[in-house]
Formats: sequence, C-alpha cells, structure tokens
Amino acid sequence: MDFYEAVQKRHTIREFSDEPVSEAAIKRILSAGMLAPSNNHMRDWEFVILKTQEEKQTALRYVKEWADKQEEVKQSGLKGTPAQRMYAYAIPRQYTMLVQAPCLILPFFRAITDILHPSAIHSLNSFASIWCVIENIFLAATAEGYGCSMRIPVGDEGPQAAKAVGAPEGYMLPCYIGIGRAKEDAEKPEQYVIPIEDRLHYGKFSYFLPSF
Ligand SMILES: Cc1cc2nc3c(=O)[nH]c(=O)nc-3n(C[C@H](O)[C@H](O)[C@H](O)COP(=O)(O)O)c2cc1C
Repeated sequence: MDFYEAVQKRHTIREFSDEPVSEAAIKRILSAGMLAPSNNHMRDWEFVILKTQEEKQTALRYVKEWADKQEEVKQSGLKGTPAQRMYAYAIPRQYTMLVQAPCLILPFFRAITDILHPSAIHSLNSFASIWCVIENIFLAATAEGYGCSMRIPVGDEGPQAAKAVGAPEGYMLPCYIGIGRAKEDAEKPEQYVIPIEDRLHYGKFSYFLPSF
C-alpha cells in the first residue's frame, strides 16, 4: 500500500474480527515502530505482546474496572456533535476494543526524566518519541490491512498494567494498542473534514478562526 493511502486509511478501530494476526505481520509492524525517531538515539522501547484471553484479561483488569463504571456514557446514545458521537461510541468499547483484539501490544518507553512533572517541553522528549513509534505502528498495521485500537491509561492504570506484565522500574506505558482485522460492519465515526488551506499561515499567523 502506498504511504499516502495508508495515512488516509488509518482510523481507530474499536470492533475486530476473530482473525489472528500472524507473528510475521506483528514483527513487521513493530519493526516499523522501531524505526521511529529516537529522543536519545537509544530506541529504548520494549513491546509486550499478549494474545491469549488470560494474558489480555490480566493486563486489562484495571481497564475493565474503569469501563464497568461508565454506565452514564453507555446510556447517552449517539447524539450531538461528531466529537460527542465519537465519545458515545468509543467509551463503552474501551475494554472490549482491547480484550477482543486478536493481538494486544503494550509498548513501553524508558522515562529518563520525570515526565509527570516536566520543567520544559524537552523534558517530555522520551514521551514524544514513543508517540512517533506508536504512529509508525498504526501506519504499518494499516498497510498490512489491519487496524488498531488505542487507549490512554487513566489514573493508576498504566503503572498497574506495567506491574501486571513485569515491566522493569522506569519503564512507562503510554497507551495500549489492539491490532486486528476490522469487523466488516464496524462503525466508522464521522470525521471533521478540515481543508489544509484553513490551517496554513505563510510567514505569520494570517488569521485565526477557532473551530470549536
Ligand atoms: C493522544 C490520543 C489519545 C487518545 N485516547 C484514546 C482513548 O483513550 N480511547 C480511544 O478509544 N481512542 C483514543 N484516541 C483515538 C481518538 O479518539 C481518534 O484518533 C480520533 O477520534 C480521530 O479518529 P481516527 O483515529 O479514527 O482518525 C486517542 C487519540 C490520541 C491521538
């Protein structure tokens, strides 16, 4: 698949078919992640691959606890703006989109500064770098014909999931990534279409029309 086609086709997938992801494809996808720009040239990233229900359920225990408490959103229905409808669709699937993904990846980065108390933007370099890795993974998975779900750990979820899979001290979990083939009838949340010309400023900000 051509690069621009992969960029256009990538969307967050929250409903998967049962079709497994081959080990060879997982390795190609994670190898693309490893080619991302690295904050300190070290590429100190690690990937925990979970395929069995038991492994996934153990790592996602705290996501399930959180998801079980989201009854209000579950009942809010698909009303409102595209962003509100996306949330109404996504929140009830935060656990299922990970536990039902044929392959669950926990990417880890080594936090070499206190990224939860940054003193300047560059204190976040290791965090920025893992997000480059994550986007490469999304694009590679798309190019392979798969899709990815992704959730940011809330509260204490990240350290707890890290502990559950035995992550070494200093390694942090930026998100969970589910990989698999999208279900044929998986819902596709409506996107805002923003012409690039609306966001280009030559030389200086020419105008600013916040769209929210
Ligand atoms: C930093 C970041 C955090 C996100 N967190 C979540 C999340 O916790 N759960 C989720 O279902 N999607 C999450 N998403 C996915 C967004 O909802 C999604 O990217 C957005 O709605 C645009 O849709 P698209 O990815 O299909 O193009 C996150 C995306 C980003 C970039």
